[in-house]
Amino acid sequence: RVTTLLGIPLDLGSHTPGARMGPAALRIAGLAPLLQQLGCTVEDAGDLAPPHPKESGLAPEDAAGCLHLEEVTAWTRLIHDHAYDLSARGRLPIFLGGDHALSMGSISGVARHCQEQGRELAVLWIDAHADFNTPETTPSRNMHGMPLSFLTGEPRLRPLLGGRPLAPLSCGNIQVFGARSIDLAERRRIRELGLGCTDMRAIDEHGVAALLGALIEEWRERDVHLHVSLDVDVLDPSIAPGVGTTVPGGATYREAHLMMEMLCDSGLLGSLDIVELNPFLDERGKSARVLVELVASLFGRTVLDRRPSRIRAF
Ligand code: ARG
Ligand code: MN
Ligand code: MN
Ligand code: MN
Repeated sequence: RVTTLLGIPLDLGSHTPGARMGPAALRIAGLAPLLQQLGCTVEDAGDLAPPHPKESGLAPEDAAGCLHLEEVTAWTRLIHDHAYDLSARGRLPIFLGGDHALSMGSISGVARHCQEQGRELAVLWIDAHADFNTPETTPSRNMHGMPLSFLTGEPRLRPLLGGRPLAPLSCGNIQVFGARSIDLAERRRIRELGLGCTDMRAIDEHGVAALLGALIEEWRERDVHLHVSLDVDVLDPSIAPGVGTTVPGGATYREAHLMMEMLCDSGLLGSLDIVELNPFLDERGKSARVLVELVASLFGRTVLDRRPSRIRAF
C-alpha cells in the first residue's frame, strides 16, 4: 500500500496565520525518509496550490459567523476532490496541514469513498478541542472550530461542498480524544447529539491504554476504516509550542506515543491528518520534530520487537 503525502497550506480556518508553513516544516523534519526507513512506499504529491475563493452558498446569517468563508469553501472542495481520488486509488493519504478546517475536505472525501465501498468509517479526533461549533455557536468565527459539525451533516454548513454528495458521519462513529477546552454551546451539543468524547480527566483517571484499547477493540470488531485526525494542540505546550491554540494540561510525550503505538498495532489506520502545526510560533523546529517522531510510532517504529497483534497493554 502506497502512502501519499499531500501538503495543504491552509491557515484561513483561524485568525492566526502561520499553519500554511506546516507542510514545509514536516518535510524538513524528515517525514518522508523516516516513513521509507520504516518500510513504507512513499509518494509525495507536493502541496495543493491555494484555490481562488468561491461563493459558499451559506445563508447570510451563517456566512456572518464564518471568517474567510469564501477561501475555506474553495479549499474544502479542492481537498475533498483530492481525498476522494487518493482513496479511490487505494492510497493511504497523509494530509499535512494546515489548520483543522482542512479536515472538512479530507474526511468528507474519504467518507464518500467509504460509503461507495460499503465500508464503515470511524474518526479518531485527537485534539484539545472538540471542533464541534457551528456558524451560530462559534465564539471566534474561526472555521477550524467547526469541522466535526460539518462532517456530521450540520445543515447550516452543508453548502460548503457545493454539488458534491456528502456522506455524513454519525456522532457515534467519532471519538474526540484528549479534550480539555470546550465551549459552553459545544458542550451542550456534544451531550445532545451524542458525539464521542474522551476528556483529559478520563485519561488522567484511566490512562490511554485502557481507554484507547477499548475503542480499538470495538472498531476492530466492526472492521472500520479508521481516519486519525491529529491536532498538534492535543500535546502539552511544553513539548509542542508551535500551535496557535495551546491549552495547558495536554498529553505527555509518552501518552502521545502510546496512542500512536496502539493505533499502529490495531492495523486499522486508513488515512491521517496532521494539523495545526504553526512553524512561525515554534521553537527551533521542536514541535515539527515531535510530530514526525509520533508518525514514526504510528507507522511501526518500536523499541523492542513486539507481536503485531497485541492491541492491549494490560
Ligand atoms: N472552540 C474554539 C473555537 O471555536 C477553539 C477551536 C480550536 N480549534 C482548533 N482546530 N485548534 O474557536
Ligand atoms: Mn479503498
Ligand atoms: Mn482541532
Ligand atoms: Mn485543537
